[in-house]
Amino acid sequence: MEQHIKITPAAASSIDSVDFDHLAFGSTFTDHMFVCDFKDGAWGTPEIVPYAPMQISPAASVLHYGQAVFEGMKAFKDENGSVWLFRPEQNAKRINKSAERLAIPTFPEEVLLEGMKKLISLDKEWVKAGVGKSLYVRPFVFASQAGVQASAANEYRFMIICAPVASYYGGDVRVKIADHYSRASQGGVGYAKAAGNYGGQFYPTQLAKEEGYQQVIWTDAATHEYIEEAGTMNLFFRIDDTLVTAPTSDSILDGVTRKSILELANHLGIKTEVRALKVSDLIEAKKSGKLLEIFGSGTAVVVQPIIGFGYKGVNYDTPIPENNYAQKLKDALLDIQYNKTEDPFGWRFKVCD
Ligand code: COI
Repeated sequence: MEQHIKITPAAASSIDSVDFDHLAFGSTFTDHMFVCDFKDGAWGTPEIVPYAPMQISPAASVLHYGQAVFEGMKAFKDENGSVWLFRPEQNAKRINKSAERLAIPTFPEEVLLEGMKKLISLDKEWVKAGVGKSLYVRPFVFASQAGVQASAANEYRFMIICAPVASYYGGDVRVKIADHYSRASQGGVGYAKAAGNYGGQFYPTQLAKEEGYQQVIWTDAATHEYIEEAGTMNLFFRIDDTLVTAPTSDSILDGVTRKSILELANHLGIKTEVRALKVSDLIEAKKSGKLLEIFGSGTAVVVQPIIGFGYKGVNYDTPIPENNYAQKLKDALLDIQYNKTEDPFGWRFKVCD
């Protein structure tokens, strides 16, 4: 694998055509993208080229069998104009864990980190300062080989694209707890950031939206009794002042924000429990007044309060309490991400000044 990254700068920037105050999440992209192809058993020369549509064979394996995985992380600009990533080495490891599960060749972590650094540095004007503003960085890899034989491909393309973003959800979030559809099952690919894990949620989420919910809380596929995750977020429940989250498993994504929240909570003296949580326990806690708040965590959403949930046709309100953990933890996380405070955990990764 060549370490050298070949750079072809864009002839002109499209940044002036972007309204940074009205960004729909992940729909505007920066001037450059990172590309590296796998062929004849090896990754080729990584390149950064102008962002542009690309040719793909109609027979490309990914279009037929969904052999693709991705990652998501954010770059932040601090008050001095320096740009930082948050724990990118975690994402670099995870994309390879996902790739292995999908029989995709792993990508050298140091090339991914270096590629992101170079790409974001080149497009650093697209990272706007101000809490809430960031650059969403999307590495992904897909089977590019032409051929409809149903087996792992021999050719792949690894790419990184970047999108300036603001908040993920515009307003309040209510969720529906799944009692019929499933996201992932034991022994499946739920722990991986596989493209199909997301596509498979769209239909049940559409149905939930028609009922007034923004997302679905997925439960275990075998019994629908245990709470897992919400598709774009891991979940936290404050029960009697203890923050409870489900253990990661082969059907739950090992979220980087999830593990950071757990570490921050411990640091701030908030009691945490990583344990299986039954839907019936949650409803019991709600009825007895012990369920004090619910929130989700994820790269895109950061920390998202959930103001109510529905289960089997009954709605339960979970209004945001005063002095809520969600805001406390979100503030602590953002302070580190935007370089407003010490970083006792060593989570910040300098991209450029
Ligand atoms: C992320 O937070 O990076 C996610 O995976 C959510 C994404 C599907 C928008």
